[in-house]
Amino acid sequence: MDYKVTLIPGDGIGPEIVREACKVLDKVGAVYGHNFQYTEILMGGCSIDACGVPLTDEAIAIAKSGDSVLLGAVGGNVGQSNWYQLPPNLRPEAGLLKIRKELGLFCNLRPAVLFRQLKNACPLKDELIGDGFDFLVVRELTGGVYFGPRETKVENGIRKAVDTMPYDENEIRRIAKWAFDVAMKRNKKVCSVDKANVLDTSRLWRQVVKEVAAEYPEVELTDMLVDNCAMQMVKDPRQFDVVLTENMFGDILSDEASMVTGSIGMLSSASLGETKLGLYEPSHGSAPDIAGQNKANPIATILSAAMMLRYSFDLMEEADKIEEAINKVLDQGYRTIDIMSEGCTLIGTKEMGDLIAAQIV
Ligand code: IPM
Ligand code: MG
Repeated sequence: MDYKVTLIPGDGIGPEIVREACKVLDKVGAVYGHNFQYTEILMGGCSIDACGVPLTDEAIAIAKSGDSVLLGAVGGNVGQSNWYQLPPNLRPEAGLLKIRKELGLFCNLRPAVLFRQLKNACPLKDELIGDGFDFLVVRELTGGVYFGPRETKVENGIRKAVDTMPYDENEIRRIAKWAFDVAMKRNKKVCSVDKANVLDTSRLWRQVVKEVAAEYPEVELTDMLVDNCAMQMVKDPRQFDVVLTENMFGDILSDEASMVTGSIGMLSSASLGETKLGLYEPSHGSAPDIAGQNKANPIATILSAAMMLRYSFDLMEEADKIEEAINKVLDQGYRTIDIMSEGCTLIGTKEMGDLIAAQIV
């Protein structure tokens, strides 16, 4: 089969980690008889430099015409880069928000998995970790305060800014369905996170999620307030299976979840919509401080490519194969600097890609 993959190398370490993911995809292609055809587009700071905007309409059109999108990372060093002197809608991150909206990617899946080989990178005490944890944050991605009306003004000589968090029941229902569907394939538990003791959007969220839950009698639903959830994630991460939440809470909690695993360089993500066209990217950022030095960990991006095979192309066996390959390389003790520990062998970005690709036979 032929698959059209749009690549967005982006900024910082983006190009080097995407390169390794393509290396692994190509090996999968060679072994299983698939052909991944890549088309690169610009997004983020590199697009600002070349085109004056973080994402052009032409680039969006290319992404829409492909079968899926694989993204490295966008953005630079906020304190140093000129990109952050621009108005907010022209900064690198605006490109990311635009592509999510344009492709209708309302569902963001962010797995928080403790890799057994990296247990000592987890900042939690042993008794909290137990035999590990594996939960999934399902974040609403195209609504809420990220996309609600906003304004900055001066009123009676006082500077004032307003952001609004709108949600309608359809937006809530479709993401809730995703969470319950995915829970059915996991441990059948959904924890819906909101701030229903304060926010109207959260009270509606709770009602609609409950309605959806009625269609999934096998799945256990709990509600949790977001502040409590932030606490529970470090206190007892093993209690979670699927964590369902709105856009901004999901942004914050998914960073916390990745920190709790201790290996942000290992965490993938998928952004999906009504069609098979998804966007896959590592959960980490562009790490400009180590860009171009062959130091970045490409595993999160390679795992994102595996998610792409699973969710966009229905290539389950191939996706499993990539994950197995990564586990084997970790079992053999190879580590990039971010996950290095005593007794292991330190390698670079490229070598990690080579070793993982070599395991796919
Ligand atoms: C993320 C990022 C983005 C977000 C930023 C870069 C706009 O933090 O994907 O979590 O807030 O969604
Ligand atoms: Mg974030």
